[in-house]
Amino acid sequence: MPSQPISSQAIGVLDSGVGGISVLKHIHALLPHENLMYVADSKYAPYGNKTPEEITARCMTIADFLIAQHVKALVVACNTATAAAIGAMRETYSVPIIGMEPAVKPAAKASKNGVIGVLATVGTLKSAQFAALLESYGRNVKVVTQACVGLVECIERGELDTPNTKALIRQYCVPLLAEGADAIVLGCTHYPFVVDAIRDVVGEKISLIDTGAAVAKQLKRQLEEKGLLSISKQKAPSNQKPKVHFWTNSEAENAEQVTEKLWGKHVEEHRL
Ligand code: DGL
Repeated sequence: MPSQPISSQAIGVLDSGVGGISVLKHIHALLPHENLMYVADSKYAPYGNKTPEEITARCMTIADFLIAQHVKALVVACNTATAAAIGAMRETYSVPIIGMEPAVKPAAKASKNGVIGVLATVGTLKSAQFAALLESYGRNVKVVTQACVGLVECIERGELDTPNTKALIRQYCVPLLAEGADAIVLGCTHYPFVVDAIRDVVGEKISLIDTGAAVAKQLKRQLEEKGLLSISKQKAPSNQKPKVHFWTNSEAENAEQVTEKLWGKHVEEHRL
């Protein structure tokens, strides 16, 4: 790989599975001239019930692959992986690395009654990073957390509105409502794909807060600062138009269909 990244190289985006596609959509919308490479580590999903060491090892394997593809930046489109692995990744790789964390600060701002709910994985909620986040931004609000065990697996299967998925969502959202939460953080990148089902349970008055757009803006800022933003390729011949490449190690037969359903367009998915 060239020692210094250059602007025409792709941006690598990774997640435990298909959830990070919710972030990829924001990146593609904000930075349409960028080549994007998305890796779903679906064979090893969910990360939420793994140890930080196991998650770090997976993130390093995926990041090694993306670095070998000469990406100029990495986006860890996963709250659980960020909490477990971003420190080790930043020590290992020299490209800019953008991570994400549950939107406690925006939720505290959006809440009118001072009660916020956080839906996330067990791994995120147990992490030192989350404790630090609550320390910094959750002091003046009541924060009710809910680990959503099993929900990531439903979304990995592409089951966004089945009775089973809806029942899990009800089970996890009703306690937050019972505690009075009027702002709920979608603290896992898989959850925006079931936002309609969540909305059906919580009603119209609750603020649902997702971090995808903020991550895309942060990525843009970092690329700008380092002179790494791709120049417009709008007028480039079609074989040089920016591309979005998908990789997965999923063993599910319908993996490509699930990716297409979530991305909203035809994709050709490469196997890792
Ligand atoms: N999408 C991930 C997150 O944002 C992780 C889900 C999982 O694999 O448990 O936390």
